Amino acid sequence: MPERTPYIAANWKMHKTVAEAAAFVDALLPRIAATQHDIVICPPYLALSEVVERSRGSAVRVAAQNMHEEPLGAFTGEISAAMLVEADVEAVILGHSERRQYFNETDEALARKVPAALAAGLEPILCVGEGEEARDAEQTEDVLERQLQADLAEVESGRLAEVVVAYEPIWAIGTGRTATPEQAQEACAFIRDVLRERGAVADAVRILYGGSVKPANAAELMAQPDIDGALVGGASLDPEEVAAIVEAA
Ligand code: PGA
Repeated sequence: MPERTPYIAANWKMHKTVAEAAAFVDALLPRIAATQHDIVICPPYLALSEVVERSRGSAVRVAAQNMHEEPLGAFTGEISAAMLVEADVEAVILGHSERRQYFNETDEALARKVPAALAAGLEPILCVGEGEEARDAEQTEDVLERQLQADLAEVESGRLAEVVVAYEPIWAIGTGRTATPEQAQEACAFIRDVLRERGAVADAVRILYGGSVKPANAAELMAQPDIDGALVGGASLDPEEVAAIVEAA
């Protein structure tokens, strides 16, 4: 079974000016100097370059929070993969539930965004997860399977290991209501099973848990066999909390 390097992603959402981003990186780097894990910071677009420049030579890599599926065109307000690559951004969050919920992100668009990111040399961090109603109706697996099959349909199986999948139950995001380690493990194992239909490459895919991760619950979540890291929102705004979560991985 391939060794999967732990992966911690900090999703700042619409937080931090360029100056605040700079101060964060300066505070974080000395605290994670010894880590062997993958650390990925996902700032708003305007702070991407600042975080790239300040974190050169460290374990930190930088991801955007979204991108458009087309390489260029009349899409006011959008950003392309090539623009991110030019800024030395290495990864991109795709399909975050907030984008699905508030910005009409569809599985159809994601089916094009994931391969477009890979083609441009970006590591896609694909988010999937069920809402509260689906969980209550015991439809979690149906939702996950549908999202994975749609969003990864155009990805060649040989490149699947380059995709990072984040399991983010919507009811746990920003609510303080973390999934239990058992619930998170069960869903992440299911995700790996779905990926296994594409071959043994599934064992190399990093699967993250996201939803109210904080230093106090990170170790227990990431100790689960199919959870390879965390996508952290609220707690990722504080460099001490990020360092503590990296330490727990
Ligand atoms: P949270 O957000 O840690 O604030 O729950 C996680 C996410 O949305 O990625």
